[in-house]
Amino acid sequence: MSSFKEKIDSYHLPRHIAIIMDGNGRWAKERGYDRIFGHQNGVISVREVTEAAAETGIKYLTLYAFSTENWARPEHEVNALMELLVDTIEKETPTLNKNNVRLKAIGDLSRLPAGAAKKLQRCIAETSVNDGLTLVLALSYSSRWEINNAIKLLCNDVKNSKISISDITDETISNYLTTREIPDPDLMIRTSGEIRISNFLLWQIAYTELYFTNTHWPDFRKENFYEAIVEYQSRERRFGK
Ligand code: IPE
Ligand code: IPE
Ligand code: MG
Repeated sequence: MSSFKEKIDSYHLPRHIAIIMDGNGRWAKERGYDRIFGHQNGVISVREVTEAAAETGIKYLTLYAFSTENWARPEHEVNALMELLVDTIEKETPTLNKNNVRLKAIGDLSRLPAGAAKKLQRCIAETSVNDGLTLVLALSYSSRWEINNAIKLLCNDVKNSKISISDITDETISNYLTTREIPDPDLMIRTSGEIRISNFLLWQIAYTELYFTNTHWPDFRKENFYEAIVEYQSRERRFGK
């Protein structure tokens, strides 16, 4: 069986791939397990896809790990997800360094439990000089939270005469978002069959190619990732021109 990897044109790679990692709960339920088991298995997919992105030469990979709305899930699920996050980040820091991966995080990190926030910041600091792949974790993230936050910051700067209203461009707005310094995604993948965006990167995906697959996140492997890149490369991006 020939691999999708061989079909990738390495001269036209998407610079930034964003993924809505969905379907952990359904994957576990189908096997008669608790949802948490699905999240634990989802970590394996995170590891695989990060490695695949680094090997392929993708510069930015953003993973939607926990949304603002996910705080409303049952407490035991939220706690399990936070614990999984902390454990994984700690365990994976040496591998990130070995693979020249820099970690970043976007979202309302002030809502994370103190222990989780501290370990996250430590991993970010310890990988900050790596210049291969930038892995961006969206944590306690939602696009409306981000835009709301940006408007507040921008209004404040207008009020303090740091910027005048007539100077506000699209680029200015991008620079007030938590994704400043990160290029807009070229490709966004959502697993597990739902055809929606669920409050992810609304401003940034204006011209992003969207890719939906029925595969649940814990089943998503390197080949699935390569397949999405091959599909992306078959599309014609016109940007309205
Ligand atoms: C995605 O899987 C992971 C998170 C949102 C944290 P879900 O937990 O949403 O699983 P489903 O969509 O209910 O199957
Ligand atoms: C989106 O998945 C959020 C993450 C993958 C972290 P959800 O499962 O929370 O989204 P909905 O509820 O299906 O829209
Ligand atoms: Mg879901």
